[in-house]
Amino acid sequence: MHSHPILVTGAAGRVGSIGPAVTEMLLRRGLKVRAMVRKEDERSQRLKDLGAQIVVGDLLDLHAMHQAIEGCRRIYFAMSVGPTYLEATANAAAVARHHEVEAFVNMSQMTVSQMSITSTTPSPQHKHHWLAEQMLAWSGLPVVNLRPTAFMDVFFLRFAVPGVRNEDKLMLPFGPGKTSPIAAWDVARVVTEILAEPAPHIGRAYDLTGPRSEALDEVAAQYSRALGREIKYVDVPPEPWEQKLAAGASSPHLAAHLIAMAGLHRQNRYDRYTDLVERLTGSPPMSVEEFVSRHASDFCVATP
Ligand SMILES: NC(=O)c1ccc[n+]([C@@H]2O[C@H](COP(=O)([O-])OP(=O)(O)OC[C@H]3O[C@@H](n4cnc5c(N)ncnc54)[C@H](OP(=O)(O)O)[C@@H]3O)[C@@H](O)[C@H]2O)c1
Repeated sequence: MHSHPILVTGAAGRVGSIGPAVTEMLLRRGLKVRAMVRKEDERSQRLKDLGAQIVVGDLLDLHAMHQAIEGCRRIYFAMSVGPTYLEATANAAAVARHHEVEAFVNMSQMTVSQMSITSTTPSPQHKHHWLAEQMLAWSGLPVVNLRPTAFMDVFFLRFAVPGVRNEDKLMLPFGPGKTSPIAAWDVARVVTEILAEPAPHIGRAYDLTGPRSEALDEVAAQYSRALGREIKYVDVPPEPWEQKLAAGASSPHLAAHLIAMAGLHRQNRYDRYTDLVERLTGSPPMSVEEFVSRHASDFCVATP
């Protein structure tokens, strides 16, 4: 049994919340976890109550990274989508090299597997992930790159809730493109598996998808089955959707990233499938139907 604490960055969680899920899954396996959070709050308290060692710090702060990494041999690195992503990766990588870690599990994105020095996407986040993977390769660190496709938790939960709940419509500007979204929870299962036994995975990159790739009409049919009422896919025009998104997003970087993801869906670039979640964890990833069932209360109008 690995006796060092395993460092989980982004452990408080906000969007996909892979950090807290991985923390919990590792602790349940009897492994020690050092959970890095930006501040102490009810999320860090919950992790502490589960048995995690909490370290407070900023991923952009070298001193904080030393405190976080010292004594750890395995690291899960991820943080929120944002313009300082590459700097944070470099910061963590430089300190991880200094401490000679045995595994650096890096969260990336599936689009990176289609990118090269002459072919990128309009998303600044995709570019950060591509450059981060390049930099980690140059670093000589023992890296595992995880490249999930779009999380169900964003377009198919956060963005979908108002339309599905109030109008029985799954409203997305995805055109006729197919997609194979993955639940962040399934990505967390893969991260956990690798952190628990990293040796066979070092140097590998894994493209992770949900259980099937299908058009949005078929995705909407899964909502219908999960919720017991008919949900229709409405292919909304991109421009007004993009304007609304840009007005509400926390940064232009995030807005540009999400707008690019929608555009790539329209170009059918998310029509991908791999069976890696099942191969790496021993059980298949959840379907949209199961994901929507788990979040059914979000998609239903509350009755007084
Ligand atoms: N969403 C998708 O469809 C998708 C698909 C494929 C890959 N990904 C990748 O998944 C990753 C995000 O994973 P996730 O959704 O599980 O993350 P998440 O739940 O949004 O959590 C990110 C965490 O990072 C923390 N954080 C942000 N800036 C920080 C800083 N400077 N120092 C320390 N902590 C910081 C946040 O802290 P606070 O909560 O305190 O702000 C938050 O807890 C990204 O790499 C993204 O590109 C996402």
